[in-house]
Amino acid sequence: MLVLGIESSCDETAASIVEDGSRLISSVVSSQIMDHSPFGGVVPEIASRKHLEAVSDVVDKAFREADLAFDDVDGVAVTQGPGLIGSLLVGFSFAKAFAYAGKFPWVGVNHLHGHMMSVFLEKETPVFPYISLLASGGHTSIYLVKDYLHYDLLGSTRDDAAGEAYDKIAKMLGFPYPGGQIIDDLSLEGDKSLYKFPRAWLQKGSFDFSFSGLKSAVRRVIEKIPENELKENTPHIAASFQDAVTDVLVRKTINAAKVTGCNCIAICGGVAANAGLRKRFSEACMKENFEFFSPSLKFCSDNAAMIACAGYHKLKNNIFSDMNEEVYARG
Ligand code: KG4
Ligand code: ZN
Repeated sequence: MLVLGIESSCDETAASIVEDGSRLISSVVSSQIMDHSPFGGVVPEIASRKHLEAVSDVVDKAFREADLAFDDVDGVAVTQGPGLIGSLLVGFSFAKAFAYAGKFPWVGVNHLHGHMMSVFLEKETPVFPYISLLASGGHTSIYLVKDYLHYDLLGSTRDDAAGEAYDKIAKMLGFPYPGGQIIDDLSLEGDKSLYKFPRAWLQKGSFDFSFSGLKSAVRRVIEKIPENELKENTPHIAASFQDAVTDVLVRKTINAAKVTGCNCIAICGGVAANAGLRKRFSEACMKENFEFFSPSLKFCSDNAAMIACAGYHKLKNNIFSDMNEEVYARG
């Protein structure tokens, strides 16, 4: 079954064709990062306008890359939420129109479900049930994934998402949006033991996260450093911050696996691209004798292949959307 996936929940317009929920035929991502960067974050109004400009071409390109005609696909999957309403509406309306015109079955997909399914685009895939850490710019959550369609939320962030914390720290250090990759790269040159930043473990056994205390602690350190000394200290701040974030993400996820009796862990979302996090996870999983899975870098950040993958499993199980359905910002 060939599924066309469409994603437009935030600042990437993406389309992809995936066969049987696992074999990538084509994937096109048009990023708006350069349009939002001067504003230090995503501007919703700009985002929806840019999606509108890009969506037809992006879908067209996905078909051209695949060397397929519109009629060749068997179904359409599109991100329904959560995300920016105006942005979601562009992809969702496009998918509705495409499905209506071609009489294709179609289905709305939860963006977070899509991220979770991104590991199934790889050769080696997790075995159910497994624990999934989803860490992105908008979410940080731990799930028990029971099968392709069912997952239980075990914990999530009470304030900032991990990616959001990365972006805010980068901004404090004078870097453009998004800052995750920049901090990750800088960490390689820094000494992580120079600053002792707090780790929020919360209540015993909790799988929730909180990054606001860490963010404030970093701000206080930066404010105390004389301006002419900030540059030389930046890699050490980045490394110490990254150590604090990865410490909490890894330990809580490993604990979740232990508590639920899973011996398999997968990570997904933009922050899953973090080199330090991937390294820490593989070491920790090796120590615990757990299997560890992470999507390739292109499937960590927002893409439509993961949406096509999640949509395939819904369509295969006769879960369809109808033309009256709407997008949702949260959930
Ligand atoms: O999944 P994603 O592309 O979009 C959302 O659904 O939010 O995630 C984007 C987030 C941004 O906050 C970005 O700074 C972060 O992922 N990110 C990283 C890295 N690459 C992207 N954070 C830490 N380390 C990275 N290497
Ligand atoms: Zn995302």
